[in-house]
Amino acid sequence: MVSRIIPVAPFDLVIFGATGDLAQRKILPALFRRFCAGQIPDGTRITGCARSELSDAQFRALLNTALSEAQDEPRPDDRDLVAFLQIISYVPLDAVGETGWAALCDYLAGSSGERVRVFYFSVGPGLFGPLAERLHSYDLTTEATRIVVEKPFGHDLASARDLNRTLASHFDESQIYRIDHYLGKETVQNLMAVRFGNMLFEPLWNSQYVDHIQITVAETVGVAGREDYYERSGAMRDMMQNHLMQLLCLIAMEPPAKFDPDAVRDEKLKVIRALDPVEPYHIVRGQYACPPGQVGDDLTYRETVKNQRSSTESYIAFKAHISNWRWAGTPFYLRTGKRLKARSSVINVLFKDAPHSIFGEEAGRHANHLKIRLQPNEGITLSVTIKEPGPGGMRLMDVPLDMSFAEALGSNGGDRADAYERLIMDVVRGNQTLFMRGDEVEAAWGWTDPIIAGWQARGDVPKPYESGSTGPGDADLLMRRDQREWRGINP
Ligand code: BG6
Repeated sequence: MVSRIIPVAPFDLVIFGATGDLAQRKILPALFRRFCAGQIPDGTRITGCARSELSDAQFRALLNTALSEAQDEPRPDDRDLVAFLQIISYVPLDAVGETGWAALCDYLAGSSGERVRVFYFSVGPGLFGPLAERLHSYDLTTEATRIVVEKPFGHDLASARDLNRTLASHFDESQIYRIDHYLGKETVQNLMAVRFGNMLFEPLWNSQYVDHIQITVAETVGVAGREDYYERSGAMRDMMQNHLMQLLCLIAMEPPAKFDPDAVRDEKLKVIRALDPVEPYHIVRGQYACPPGQVGDDLTYRETVKNQRSSTESYIAFKAHISNWRWAGTPFYLRTGKRLKARSSVINVLFKDAPHSIFGEEAGRHANHLKIRLQPNEGITLSVTIKEPGPGGMRLMDVPLDMSFAEALGSNGGDRADAYERLIMDVVRGNQTLFMRGDEVEAAWGWTDPIIAGWQARGDVPKPYESGSTGPGDADLLMRRDQREWRGINP
């Protein structure tokens, strides 16, 4: 498979929070890989900004270490590394004070107004406002300026609105790129290709043929290292309100008229707005609490966050309904959790039984099942019913039609850019399709807030589950009440 790498024009990228974990582990390594792939041309400048007093050489040394550690592949080629470090510089800067801003102005002076200038806010949301204000007061924004902001985009609807208002007072919506890194994952985009590029699925993609849909994002990692943030967020705010909500939108939305940012985002927004409120008895919250099974370190959630009374959920599952013509009557079951049995993100579309079995009940009843594996082992499996081989009469069985993307596309699967590589290049190209629009984020919080308020009002305490398991038993009950069951969590 020949990958197509289309270089972008030279650009300026300024990363605020450049010494932080996200910049060092994700953003800068992603830029390095695009540089090695030949997509970032000569003349591009990447500038790190943070409070630490570092020289260019010291920042490059820091980055050198991060890049060597971040690469999954063999150590990067030294020539690439040297060339990449040459386009990197560093300006010590205070986001809430005036230190460093004049130096940043000097650094960026002289570049034409048409040259793309990206400011990446790899900082907490509390700094979005001060940064936006200073970018304006120091006259650093141009027509071709874009800003990138990370999640969490707010903590609830009110704070998300405030952030949107703050950013909107300095930037046009077309300049704001809100990252949800799930949207940059290869297979997540493949959801759209599978649905809207094939005649096979879309005619069946509705409540007449689909019995129910399961979305699972299971992780083996715990919350160590991010205790404070996670205690305030929990699985609902950390994963459900954004990543799983985006997956739900892509799986449930109507076909947009074209693959263009607003057309896609309009359709996603309609899904969120059509979501019914979730009944409390359709929600299960869990917390890894029992002595650990086979996974990871040996602390329970409460020990990790050093709060023996914590009622923050590290797991959540629920049943949702989308009240629209296409999906009325088809439930969506969503679940996500930490310290589970395996790292596995999968969407299962379970089709209804054939309306009448011409083979009689003794042949067995089987329904088609489409499994979309997002990570790891990206691919798609469609189960098809056939006759059980042998002379034992007409008995039915399921066989999988399995397409592993790695196998189908070769070992490197074409140009397998990771989510951050793809998203950052999209910012530079000015394509907002894979970024969340302000109204989408607000709608997602608007749906999430009452659920959280409900369990706060009831003093809900999450159910314990064992590390290395599939989550709390109540999540299985949620399914069993509907005569259904979760598909397994397998690596
Ligand atoms: C982040 C969450 O947004 O996504 C983390 O804050 C989570 O808690 C991570 O672990 C999962 O991302 P991925 O790409 O590893 O599935």
